[in-house]
Amino acid sequence: MLPDLYTRIPGPRSLFLAEKLQQYESRNVTYVDGDWPVFWERAEGTNVWDADGNRFLDLTSAFGVAGLGHGNSEVVAAMQKQSQQLLHGMGDVHPTALKGDLCEQLSAVTFERWGVGRAKAVLSSSGFEAVESALKTARLASGKRKVIAFSNAYHGLGYGSLLGTDLEKFHGPFGDQLANVTVRLPFGGDEIEQISPDEIGAVLVEPIQGRGGKVVPPPEFLPRLRKWCDEHGAVLIFDEIYTGFFRTGKMFGCEWDGVVPDLICLGKALSGGFPISACVGKESVMDAWPESTGEALHTSTFLGNPVGCAMALASLEILERAETGDMVNNAGCYLERALKNMEAPGIIDVRGRGMMWGVELDRNAGALLGELLKVGLIMLADGKEGSVLAFTPPYLISKEETDFAIDTIAGILAHRH
Ligand SMILES: Cc1ncc(COP(=O)(O)O)c(C=O)c1O
Repeated sequence: MLPDLYTRIPGPRSLFLAEKLQQYESRNVTYVDGDWPVFWERAEGTNVWDADGNRFLDLTSAFGVAGLGHGNSEVVAAMQKQSQQLLHGMGDVHPTALKGDLCEQLSAVTFERWGVGRAKAVLSSSGFEAVESALKTARLASGKRKVIAFSNAYHGLGYGSLLGTDLEKFHGPFGDQLANVTVRLPFGGDEIEQISPDEIGAVLVEPIQGRGGKVVPPPEFLPRLRKWCDEHGAVLIFDEIYTGFFRTGKMFGCEWDGVVPDLICLGKALSGGFPISACVGKESVMDAWPESTGEALHTSTFLGNPVGCAMALASLEILERAETGDMVNNAGCYLERALKNMEAPGIIDVRGRGMMWGVELDRNAGALLGELLKVGLIMLADGKEGSVLAFTPPYLISKEETDFAIDTIAGILAHRH
């Protein structure tokens, strides 16, 4: 669609909705200030329309969920068919056939594809729950309680996943309630070589850091972690909730370095829009869980929800087609070149892979995000200082849309300096 249609005029409906949120939603959840936020009403492909009819270009894939674009027709069809039949089953007690189908497909797309045999899965709803399933699995499999995690890591905000998440702003008042079991190391370094392994049961890492600022580690980093875990009986957990399903240009981020984890955490783009996540692991590690004797040791009400499973199965089918990989690679190469050629003041670094890029600026990008909304660009900022402008658009973004976005951002950066 024509880029000149992207001009935002905040209307009365958005103002009304903002006021309502301020009255009824808990403080701290949604940031409301002036023209922020945009109230999404519908979306298609790379485009989003708000409650006042304004159209935006989404450069976030809505937190990395809509890799295949908003409202992918095959995923929507799967969702519609399933929702007419059954909305909800009984996850760990009386499940649907779809739960087994999804676990089977998750095994096929990960450990079986990597040539290490069958994998087993624990399904859940949010990404952080998949991380918590992985931490519990590692505790059972290793018999050890401590966790190595890395600087600037983001693994979600549940009390268990906060053991891995570093960004201090999220620990805040809750830090003193967390068990003191985390050994924090610099991301990308070799400090693990000096760590006493006695109590370490898990090494939790994002193969490429997402919210920490789109940081690609040096190529020896993941192999070093693999070797250390093998030598010391620790479980290697890759959190691919962000990087999974082609976000970095390969099906999984770890494939860039050819390292196979023991457990992989998946979410976001798994379904393209339903809260469903999974911890998938080597059979030998996952079998540390005891047989169920009637009461599951770990489960949740919505585990294996049939609508989520149907959407995830439809997404996986599309993701496994050769043309999806080709589409991501073409779009990723174009985005990389365009970002690296972007000429604008205040840019310190451009880094990333595939369809996951960060442009580090010399200042916090918060105010810039508001200006970008005015010209129809939905973006987010990452990194400890909020100074990394994140580019994670849907894979089907066109060259024209990419050029439009980058020219517009360059123009605004030039104007601000
Ligand atoms: C790498 C990573 N892990 C975990 C999470 C948490 O997922 P959720 O917000 O669905 O709990 C995120 C979310 O951004 C993430 O990027």
